[in-house]
Amino acid sequence: MDIVLSGIRPTGELHLGNYFGALRNFTKMQYENRCYFFIADLHSLTTHPKPDDFHANVSNVLAEYLAAGLDPEVATIFVQSDIPEVSELYVILNMLAYKGELERTPSFKEKARKHADNINAGLLTYPVLMASDILIHRAAKVPVGKDQEQHLEFTRLLARRFNNMYGAEVFPEPTAYNFGNDLVKVPGLDGGGKMGKSEGNGIYLSDDEKTIRKKVMRAVTDSGPTEPNSPMPEPIQNIFTLLDIVSTSDTVQHFRDKYNSCEIRYGELKKQLADDICKVTLPIRERILELTADKEYLGKVVREGSVKARESAAATLYEARKAVGFRPF
Ligand code: TRP
Repeated sequence: MDIVLSGIRPTGELHLGNYFGALRNFTKMQYENRCYFFIADLHSLTTHPKPDDFHANVSNVLAEYLAAGLDPEVATIFVQSDIPEVSELYVILNMLAYKGELERTPSFKEKARKHADNINAGLLTYPVLMASDILIHRAAKVPVGKDQEQHLEFTRLLARRFNNMYGAEVFPEPTAYNFGNDLVKVPGLDGGGKMGKSEGNGIYLSDDEKTIRKKVMRAVTDSGPTEPNSPMPEPIQNIFTLLDIVSTSDTVQHFRDKYNSCEIRYGELKKQLADDICKVTLPIRERILELTADKEYLGKVVREGSVKARESAAATLYEARKAVGFRPF
């Protein structure tokens, strides 16, 4: 059993890209590994969220994680800021992270460009905090998207640097968790690119039926194929990719045949897609509503999660403190 860890920033609701790209895989992965799932609220402070909205966002993401099937009986689910050990390790690791390498991190450069009025030290050392999240539990595997690969590489570098500098094998080097064929990339319905919050093209797990239907019916299409077996332009391919994810293979084949014989009606295709998205997400939406209303249960989950997480974190921090030379008097 590997230790697998994943964090998510509480930036609002989760969309189909989050669900099919990661979350659904997590629900399987959690039974085959020792999993830590947490909400990276400390990381979010880099953008100075308003305290009330902030708590609501953390609570939402937690409810959505649980509604999607993360199981607090088998996985350790917690909120980052409930684990003070992470912050202490962050201080220690900051001394091993050099200004030049942090400034060269692509995500830092991008964020500094986007938020030129708020280039705080936390933004610069964001990768050190992320490394602390991972190393504090000595995770072996971290499921990461393309945008986080560099951060994982940096985590390995810090682990090596710490172990070499202090001559102790405190931290193992984590590698990327590979979903293999289970990894699906979820496109948006706006004609190109992937589904994303900032792209504004998301279908959310908390969307009601009417909203889902409206979004799907508005999906970008074209005037239809004029020759049999024409190649599909990207917007149409994207609709089929989504259909592949949510519908049965018979349904997909039916519409592929219609496309290839130039008899496709996009209205029918979209209606089918909306039906099948609803089938997957509406039961999750129900659970989100129940869980969001049950603050007591959410509190119980994160309190129990933090007890387990702190146990593992404290054991690692003990080794790290010993290695750097903090000795009891
Ligand atoms: N930086 C990640 C993101 O933006 C979130 C994150 C924080 C994370 N700490 C982590 C992911 C540790 C994996 C492991 O998506």
